[in-house]
Amino acid sequence: MTDAAAARVAQLRAEIAQHDYRYYVLDDPLVSDAEYDRLMQELRALEAAHPALVSADSPTQRVSGTPRAGFGEVVHQVPMLSLDNAFSEDDVRGFDRRIHERLGRSGELDYVAEPKLDGLAVSVIYRAGRLERAATRGDGITGEDVTANVRTIRAVPQRLRGTSPATFEARGEVFMTLAGFARMNELARARGEKVFVNPRNAAAGSLRQLDARITAARPLSAFFYGIGVLEGAAAPARQRELLYLLRSLGLPVSPETRTVRGVEGCLEYYREIGARRSSLPYQIDGVVYKLDSRADQDRLGFISRAPRWAIAHKFPPDEAFTVVRDIGFQVGRTGALTPVARLEPVFVSGVTVSSVTLHNIDEVHRKDVRVGDTVVVRRAGDVIPEVVSVVLDKRPPGTQPLELPERCPVCHSQVLRAAGEAVARCTGGFTCRAQRQESLRHFASRRALDIEGLGDKLIEQLVERDAVRTPADLYSLTTAQLAELDRMAEKSAANLIAAIDRSRRTTLPRLLYGLGIREVGEATALALARHFGSLERLMESDETAIQQVPDVGPVVAAHVAAFFASEDHRRVIEALRAQGVSWPDMPAASAGGHSLSGRTFVITGTLAAMTREQAQEALSARGAKVAASVSKKTSFVVAGSEAGSKLARARELGLPVLDEQEFLALLEREKPP
Ligand code: IVH
Repeated sequence: MTDAAAARVAQLRAEIAQHDYRYYVLDDPLVSDAEYDRLMQELRALEAAHPALVSADSPTQRVSGTPRAGFGEVVHQVPMLSLDNAFSEDDVRGFDRRIHERLGRSGELDYVAEPKLDGLAVSVIYRAGRLERAATRGDGITGEDVTANVRTIRAVPQRLRGTSPATFEARGEVFMTLAGFARMNELARARGEKVFVNPRNAAAGSLRQLDARITAARPLSAFFYGIGVLEGAAAPARQRELLYLLRSLGLPVSPETRTVRGVEGCLEYYREIGARRSSLPYQIDGVVYKLDSRADQDRLGFISRAPRWAIAHKFPPDEAFTVVRDIGFQVGRTGALTPVARLEPVFVSGVTVSSVTLHNIDEVHRKDVRVGDTVVVRRAGDVIPEVVSVVLDKRPPGTQPLELPERCPVCHSQVLRAAGEAVARCTGGFTCRAQRQESLRHFASRRALDIEGLGDKLIEQLVERDAVRTPADLYSLTTAQLAELDRMAEKSAANLIAAIDRSRRTTLPRLLYGLGIREVGEATALALARHFGSLERLMESDETAIQQVPDVGPVVAAHVAAFFASEDHRRVIEALRAQGVSWPDMPAASAGGHSLSGRTFVITGTLAAMTREQAQEALSARGAKVAASVSKKTSFVVAGSEAGSKLARARELGLPVLDEQEFLALLEREKPP
């Protein structure tokens, strides 16, 4: 019996290690997370039943049970070096020229170009192929022993593959993917815990946990790019071979590494990666060039702490200092007042930033941003710029904390802030020009009534002239009226009238979404439409009835009921009907089968409950299409764990993103008969 158990345990361990390898090194997983978890469960159960079979390198032992009092010190046998930085192409050319001079060489040299990962450097030592010790870089001479923590990182194998050298020290970077970082902070925020400012700090904070169980719960990953101590095998003659060796031993290496020819090859790589930087699933702050030939590396040697044969070519900083000129308040569709800082224009990661949202008054007070302050502005990738912090040392005398205005800056109605809410709102409703404008913009947007060509500038003019007050007024506009507006020729006016006309035939979910009811996004609009089947039935329903809709809680139900209780809103709906806007009733929730028809989904990352094929099948059974890439036409993006660039792209486009739970709820709701 025990023989059988021992055999099964060995088999499970091998299978799990193989899956880790496929996932982290080959980036080509064979099984779903659920299947992986099942294997781990089985292994855990067997080890519990046969404690003698437990070994230190079992994947179940990745998490050690007890927190420690402090980290031990580790002296690096081979010092962990740092890199010199290049900030311009000239700097890189200078680096290449110096190498030529020192080596007395002409002609182009081969370099290996690698992304410069923004995490923290670690050394991991394997003896006889088994992970023995992991350490941080520290000051390069002495680091901290983080073995228990590094063991919890699935990307770091417990055992090397194939024939491993007697002693092998791999060096690389531990980092957190952007998706992992976002998920972790979301969780922390939900629990009211501290959030990390960026993935680098999050990775560092996670690795340096005295309780490795905390590290285990953090989505850390790793790429390797170097070696330290090596015994029982010859050192690779080239950096490119070193990377092959790492990979063949089962250690993950960035798929972006490349051998390039000459300094021009380096610079081409820099531009190419720079262009793709924001779609990479992790943060990089530059690229690293390493002379390929090890013999040449050895001849060049080091200067202080950095090798002469490698350099980091940094991307332009994504943080800059500037001064806050003014702070104003913008009024949104639901009356929400958003403080916006107007800045002394400043160039950050490729664009000039002159204004930045401060989100809400609590945020302003938390960061204590004041007019006249010098602030740090960050723009990471394509993310909207933000104020990171105030440089208090540079605060001029006489500044005042920002106060919430008592009256709306647009319509002068009273501003109210509900108890416990961060958001303050203008109470003007439809009498407020800003709210009218934003409501119209939302109504006409692509995912709502989809009126092509009705842009912000036009809406602004129409509202300004009082030609349009409510969405219904759009349908009585004439070509002549439109042609009078700035930047409107006869032809484009006619086109817009045609687009408005086309939007008359719409769907109930689009209408519900377009009305701009608070907290009712696309998914909720669809759920409401499916549940009630017609607008009449929804309008007749009270809060309790609305709460029956799957995923609709008391807050959303209250907003929906309040919306339809308003005389103004009822009049707008009547006027829309009178203007010939129509939305067919939906088949009752149970009669469907093609309830998601016309919707396009993109699935990214790994789902725990099903394979991608199963998810696709489930969607097609409900009439939806599944696409491979994210575009403006995508209706929903389903993000599983480790979702990467597609998720980033979805955020960029402002598409609705469903996490796995929301996705499962949607499938349940839209179940075919
Ligand atoms: S090589 C002698 N390669 O950058 C070689 N470092 O600024 C020394 N880093 O401490 C390091 N990506 O934490 C190397 N592909 C890469 C890297 C990389 C990120 C970090 C590493 C190092 C720091 C130096």
